[in-house]
Amino acid sequence: MSTRTPDSPEQPADRLWSGRFDTAPDPEAFDFGVSFPFDRRLFEDDVTGSQAWATAIRDAGVLTEADHEAIQAALTAILAAGQADPASVTGPDEDVHSYVERKLVERVGDAGRRLHTGRSRNEQVSLDLRLYLRRRIPAIQQALLALVRTFVDLAETAGDAVMPSYTHLRKAQPVLVAHFLLSHAAPLRRDFERFARASDEADALTLGSGAIAGTSYSVDTAALASRLGFSRVVLNSMDASSDRDYVASFLYAVALTMVHLSRIAEDFIIFTGEEHLFFELSDASATGSSMMPQKKNPDPLELVRGKSGRALGRLTGWLTTMKALPTGYNKDLQEDKEATFDAEQTVLVSLAASRAVVSRLGINRERTERAASGLLLATDVADYLVRRGVPFRRAHEIVGTMVRNLLAEGRDFSDLSPAEWKAASDAFGDDAPEAATARASVGAKRTPQSTQPAAVAAAIGESRQWLASKTRA
Ligand code: ARG
Repeated sequence: MSTRTPDSPEQPADRLWSGRFDTAPDPEAFDFGVSFPFDRRLFEDDVTGSQAWATAIRDAGVLTEADHEAIQAALTAILAAGQADPASVTGPDEDVHSYVERKLVERVGDAGRRLHTGRSRNEQVSLDLRLYLRRRIPAIQQALLALVRTFVDLAETAGDAVMPSYTHLRKAQPVLVAHFLLSHAAPLRRDFERFARASDEADALTLGSGAIAGTSYSVDTAALASRLGFSRVVLNSMDASSDRDYVASFLYAVALTMVHLSRIAEDFIIFTGEEHLFFELSDASATGSSMMPQKKNPDPLELVRGKSGRALGRLTGWLTTMKALPTGYNKDLQEDKEATFDAEQTVLVSLAASRAVVSRLGINRERTERAASGLLLATDVADYLVRRGVPFRRAHEIVGTMVRNLLAEGRDFSDLSPAEWKAASDAFGDDAPEAATARASVGAKRTPQSTQPAAVAAAIGESRQWLASKTRA
């Protein structure tokens, strides 16, 4: 342990809190607590928040006009320098807040030393992260819109192609390929709205909270909030110093989006495989095997599915960090940033990769049509009997027996002769075989959310309108 020598302002290692301490920090303990290597992503937000704070404390009579001007000019120059050369935003500083303050003091001396009056890093770091999320969430939403658009485009291309749908991963009923594709657009639309809500949650000004008890300078928090684009001020300074619910909500939005992307990936891994080949994976979206020449592997889809684990881990990890904290700021909260940045990066690259793969998918109509015929039409045959007055339970039984026999003979409904239909039930007329086709099956549906072709066409139109409304906004 070395004895501390009074730090000169020029010494870069000067900490924001050195005054109270006899000795310089143990390098290992200090390095352990350093967040600058990752919180430098908040650089722009820290400067934005600091400029607004400077004006607030000038208006509160803390800063002179001259000091305020000097601080504004210096912060503007610091921001420009950092943006021009992002790699220059580095140094021995504990965190980005210390970095910005050091740079400011280097430029304007004592005026810079006055900026932190009445402000704490506890409220500052939460402010920065709120500004960051509100600034970055729109990029995730744009990527979601692009993926939704890709599904809608592909649904349009699919036209009237039919395919089997599955429950329990066993053939259930015929659907339009377009209906299946739109079934993946729907959750992504909910994700879009979920991110909007996460952004709303971050929409509250923390400044004025001080370290925990509030600030003793007459800061106009409402004016400060509107200057920074916040619609409201936090309710309680103690809560504000440790509230990271908005981080949890963001991580939840990411986690659920990744769950959806993982399920999309899973579907296309299965449906592009040799056993189905409903969709053709573009060579551009696949990789080969170093040993097996025939292989075309869906690596990007697998990696998206794999990364969902990481995103769920970030949410779980962060909730675990939050759960035992006593009221007020605790250093544990510093873990919020790596979780946020990693989750953000993960969802952005996964959305881009998913879009790249889906946009290049080919639809193998012949295979989907063929797979959509056969015994999965059993429900439609039962519905035919119901239309002829047979109670559904009875119809289910009759058709179940037919299926059992057909299975034993290796045949399906299309192989039945008129006499065989009649033998199964008097209620079958000559038109019974027409009811047992995939196209009749989808055409028979009657609800707006169904796979009925007109309903699906309307759904494509509605999706386009939704996309337009979100693109305008
Ligand atoms: N790097 C810190 C964090 O991320 C900034 C806040 C520091 N506050 C404090 N009281 N040590 O949470």
